[in-house]
Amino acid sequence: MQRADVSRRQFLSGVSSGLALAALTPAVRPDESQTRTKMPARLIIDSERRHTKIDRRLFGSFLEHMGRAVYDGIFDPESPFADEDGIRSDVLEEIRDLEVPIIRYPGGNFVSGYNWLDGVGPLEERPRVLERAWNSLETNQFGTNEFMRWCRKVRTEPLMAVNLGTGTPETATALLEYCNLDSRTKWADLRREHGYEKPYGVKSWCLGNEMDGPWQIGHMTAREYGMKAADAARQMRRTDRSIQLIACGSSNTTIPTYLKWDQEMLEECYHEVDAISLHRYFNNTDDTGGDSQQYLAMNLSMEKQIREVASVADYVRGRLRSRKKLWLSFDEWNVWYRAREFDGGQKVAPHLLEEVYNLEDALLVGGAINTLIRSADRVKVGCLAQIVNVIAPIMTHDEGLWRQTIYYPYAWALKYARGQVMDLGLRVETFDGADLGPVGYLDVASTIDETRSRLCLFILNRDLEHDRQLELVWRDLEPQAITTSLTLTGADLKATNTREDPDNVSPHVLDPPSPGTKMTIDLPAQSYSILEMKI
Ligand code: AHR
Repeated sequence: MQRADVSRRQFLSGVSSGLALAALTPAVRPDESQTRTKMPARLIIDSERRHTKIDRRLFGSFLEHMGRAVYDGIFDPESPFADEDGIRSDVLEEIRDLEVPIIRYPGGNFVSGYNWLDGVGPLEERPRVLERAWNSLETNQFGTNEFMRWCRKVRTEPLMAVNLGTGTPETATALLEYCNLDSRTKWADLRREHGYEKPYGVKSWCLGNEMDGPWQIGHMTAREYGMKAADAARQMRRTDRSIQLIACGSSNTTIPTYLKWDQEMLEECYHEVDAISLHRYFNNTDDTGGDSQQYLAMNLSMEKQIREVASVADYVRGRLRSRKKLWLSFDEWNVWYRAREFDGGQKVAPHLLEEVYNLEDALLVGGAINTLIRSADRVKVGCLAQIVNVIAPIMTHDEGLWRQTIYYPYAWALKYARGQVMDLGLRVETFDGADLGPVGYLDVASTIDETRSRLCLFILNRDLEHDRQLELVWRDLEPQAITTSLTLTGADLKATNTREDPDNVSPHVLDPPSPGTKMTIDLPAQSYSILEMKI
């Protein structure tokens, strides 16, 4: 098996296991002549100023039946890594080690043409079907029960999407009954007949996928979708009162119906649902004209999107005089603009959307993580789209797997963004972010985990030329030790990892500041860093 030589644990805790790591990757010491010329940024940390507890589901992911995500990615009975269920054990371990809290399935565009009944029951009786979203061949050898079993092995929670494209509220409710009910009723009995006695108790459900998009199978108007979603939600809630239901919001911010869709469909289904979805894929072309500094500010436009969608939801709430406040599910987000082939050539597991990520993509993913942390009061679920082979942090081949650049900020979020979100006072130099207004060279988010006595800082340095200093001013805390200090940086923003060179872009130990009531962190130009402190 070809894998990175240095274990993931070393990559994730630069100081505690820093000795071993330092031997391989020397600590990054910013160029002092540069930092001295720039005004240091100032961060005020006050332990009283904190808000929301982060929902662990904020850093979930997404597995769609497309390309090589399921077949070749997580499931491959022919692979030397296959376990007794045909699951790739190397990929399983990688995802389990990441501790991904929730995984959305089975789509994506795929779900809008999917008949879930094709994917349950005896394997030899399952039909091979032409899948119309990606024009691929779906063997149905992996379906709902296999996914539930995989989730248990990975120790993650399923976020199931139902088909509201070709599917009906009735077929959606049948799937819920199949998954969740213990009763002696038609669909629960079918599950038993298939060999699964106990219900799965799936809590979170997406009512369709991107139904605002003309590309979507079964695309409809906002009002049509809102009525269909309300009908499905009513039937599903009657079946299982404990579930949480997420309505399809706008699929991006550039679609002409952006926000209008959200308003109209919520006017039809607000009372029936718990949350509204948001999706976003960043690119360094249309959004930015290829300007990397503007690109690294794009997470702020994600923050704007969150505010806008929340405002529309609150507007509808006000109009309907509802006591309920919807939360947001950012259930697809990532960088995606290079590998945009949509035709699988009617093959099984075609190479689709195998985007190769570079350093600047990873830095922006870091920025998006900061945005999600800061928005945790409203965003409860988030899904990095996707998890393996398709616009993914993990890539497989016949002999093993390798990690893309975006793996690292995502892994840091999963490991360190725990507990509550800190409200920070940040004074920082800015540059002109065009439509976004003045943008700070540094973007900082912070979490405090009192059960472990740890405070973490997640810092994006958007300055492409200069190292930057950040002074930490502690109002009422005194950090006792730096337990992790890592950075992802490099001279070439376009550098990538590949199967042949899997560690080309990987974290280095960042020279840790000395703990005290006043501390200064030196941040390399174009970097994303994590600092964990014992407090
Ligand atoms: O994640 C790839 C695709 O992007 C999904 O299928 C769809 O929901 C989105 O447009």
